[in-house]
Amino acid sequence: MPGQRPNFFYHLHPPTIPKREGSFRYTFGLGGISVLLFLVLAVTGLLLTFFYIPTPDQAADSIQIITYQVPFGWLVRNLHYWAAQWMVIVVALHLLRVIFTGAYKLPRRTNYIIGLVLLVGTLLLDFTGYVLRWDAGTHWALVVGTNLIKDLPVLGPALYQLIVGGSQIGGATTIRFYGWHLFGLTIPALILIVWHSFKVRRDGGISHQPRLGDHTPRLDRAQLVKTETVVALLVLAALIFISIVLPAPIGPVADLPLPAEAAQAPWFFLWVQALLRSLPPFVAGIFIPIGVLALLLVIPYWVDRRKDGVAVWFNRPGRVAQIITIVIFVGLIALTLVELGQ
Ligand code: HEM
Repeated sequence: MPGQRPNFFYHLHPPTIPKREGSFRYTFGLGGISVLLFLVLAVTGLLLTFFYIPTPDQAADSIQIITYQVPFGWLVRNLHYWAAQWMVIVVALHLLRVIFTGAYKLPRRTNYIIGLVLLVGTLLLDFTGYVLRWDAGTHWALVVGTNLIKDLPVLGPALYQLIVGGSQIGGATTIRFYGWHLFGLTIPALILIVWHSFKVRRDGGISHQPRLGDHTPRLDRAQLVKTETVVALLVLAALIFISIVLPAPIGPVADLPLPAEAAQAPWFFLWVQALLRSLPPFVAGIFIPIGVLALLLVIPYWVDRRKDGVAVWFNRPGRVAQIITIVIFVGLIALTLVELGQ
């Protein structure tokens, strides 16, 4: 950018990056879109706090007020809802891109682990947000989901109390979930996102194939910022469009104890609900989800420790890691579809 001072967004990138790995076809912009969605969630979430009332008898009513009475409240709520659902999908796709291109290999192992923590954080944020709706439909998340925590060995009962605010679900539960959603999860997620993005640069920039000599075609960051701006505007336009045409779910206001017939897991935990139909709660709700996470966690440490093949889609040294990931994702999607068909 001759004659112009680079602005904040330029400084987020090195002056030039390798052209192939800087292209949209390598990252699909998925990490950047995750950051954008997080920002949309932070802004719309902040606006929702002005009207949401975190008490059991007023929470669901306040959501009705936001949706039907507050000027543009419906739009802010729909944006918050859709950004949260997209975030789960985009972060999962980002994980697939990272694994299929071998971007988890050294020196990016630590950043891969930070990413996995962010994935768990994203799911927990979505889960606690779902509970805050506090209508009849959120029964599953509140009762079945929190009961699973009780089954955890040693720490289970104490953790349960910490999460629901007492020995059983009651008056303190809504404010507990509100506290977790707003501060206990959002602030650590923000810190981790900053660390994760900073680590991308510390690790030598976006993963790329080591090349001999200095003849790699390079991309100027002005071009990169331009592409990122176009992608961000398209994502925002799509998000606004879907928020106008598709309202976020809103159920009838429910009194405690919540009616069991409305039980439904949020869509991203339907696979757990499917497992719970045929397996003991500890196996379905704790052992298998932790096992899936552990499998992903050990990929750069035990499954593929080789450094070659980085930045190559479906590289040979990463074959086992790719197969494990595909089996996990196909399994989760299949279970979700089975549960949807119930
Ligand atoms: C809230 C969730 C997340 C956010 C906001 C985020 C953000 C980003 C951004 C902005 C980048 C650089 C651009 C790109 O590669 O698209 C990146 C790269 C990376 N992310 Fe994430 N990420 C998240 C979750 C994850 C997850 C779940 C993993 C995997 C477990 C992960 C692992 C990585 C790795 C290893 C890199 C470096 C990739 C490379 O150099 O090719 N991230 N992330």
